[in-house]
Amino acid sequence: SIDKVIGEWDGQLSCSRYDEASGAFFTIALHSLRLGPAAGGTRAMQYVGHDTAVDDATRLAGAMTLKMAIAGLPMGGGKSVIALPAPRHVLTEGQWQRILEIHAENLRALNGSYWTGPDVGTASVDMDVLHAAGGYAFGRSEEAGGPGSSAPETAHGVHVAIHASIREAGFDDLSGRRVLVQGLGAVGYDVAARVAAEGAHVIATDVDPIRCERARTELDAEIVAPRDVLSTPSDVFVPCATGNVVDDAVAGTLPTQVVAGAANNLLARATAADALARRGVVLAPDFVANGGGAIHLVGREVLGWSADQVAAHVEGIEGTLKEVFDLARSERISTEHAARRLASERLRIHV
Ligand code: NAI
Ligand code: PHE
Repeated sequence: SIDKVIGEWDGQLSCSRYDEASGAFFTIALHSLRLGPAAGGTRAMQYVGHDTAVDDATRLAGAMTLKMAIAGLPMGGGKSVIALPAPRHVLTEGQWQRILEIHAENLRALNGSYWTGPDVGTASVDMDVLHAAGGYAFGRSEEAGGPGSSAPETAHGVHVAIHASIREAGFDDLSGRRVLVQGLGAVGYDVAARVAAEGAHVIATDVDPIRCERARTELDAEIVAPRDVLSTPSDVFVPCATGNVVDDAVAGTLPTQVVAGAANNLLARATAADALARRGVVLAPDFVANGGGAIHLVGREVLGWSADQVAAHVEGIEGTLKEVFDLARSERISTEHAARRLASERLRIHV
């Protein structure tokens, strides 16, 4: 129930709203304002119930707090979830515009204590609409005066994280290595293209057959069914779909050496990281590996960085991961716990 979700949450504020006209349920979670206004994307998709939408928003907001802290960005963590009445591609333009109108009203009510941006189910064009309606939105299109989508810099950061992680696992390059990409969306496809260009053997999956076909023809990718992804052997697993993919049981069997991807809240529970560590699988924690998008949005729109400065900070993910791996090794803890410790040190210092 929603009571249980909120009762177990350690964040600052959560608010929800149902819009009868569109049938959409909105929930915004502000996990922490300690380092600055809360920021995190708007996820628009279908949920089995309103409590699962609230659960997703609150957990994703918590991940944003860690992401901002470890990337050294002056923002807190937040997230919006819009539980749609039907799949996004089935909604009429009129229904979607009504949903954005209500979301802009929600953002205005929070008056800048929360800034949104693109996430699963939303894109720069939607940020243009929210911003024009007075909503606090990062990631507008370049035509509308924004810095454009966060996805390319997220993919850049994931690529940096893959290289840092394979070195930790004891191999230097991707030539001939099996790289398994789950989710061929804005980030996953870009990462697949980057590793294919380095001579990796790309294995890919998506629930959308058109995206699979594109990867097969353009990247010479081997396609596997979505349900087979967790039993497909690889050298590197790159999760770029949604979260909760690796629970304790999956962590005990996942046939790979390295996990480094973009999916927020990849682990169903932090303990899954211990099971991976016991098997010697190198995990790049999601909130470190996928920080490139946040660095792009906050860098360009809050800190006034150029595209080159953003790219240089995204390269910094390598150094952060090295710190995480060193701490995990010396303290004999999982990389997930090591990264959480580094992020929370920064949060404490800034009290
Ligand atoms: P997207 O919506 O463009 O792509 C997601 C892809 O995953 C879609 O092609 C979808 O069909 C596919 N998918 C969904 N369920 C699947 C399943 N069970 N098996 C296989 N494929 C499945 O989203 P985007 O922007 O590429 O983001 C991917 C992940 O990375 C999300 O978890 C997002 O929160 C995270 N992320 C994205 C950032 C960004 O800047 N776009 C930044 C940080 C994290
Ligand atoms: N949704 C993306 C993420 O999870 C990008 C984003 C970052 C959106 C920061 C808003 C603010 O990192």
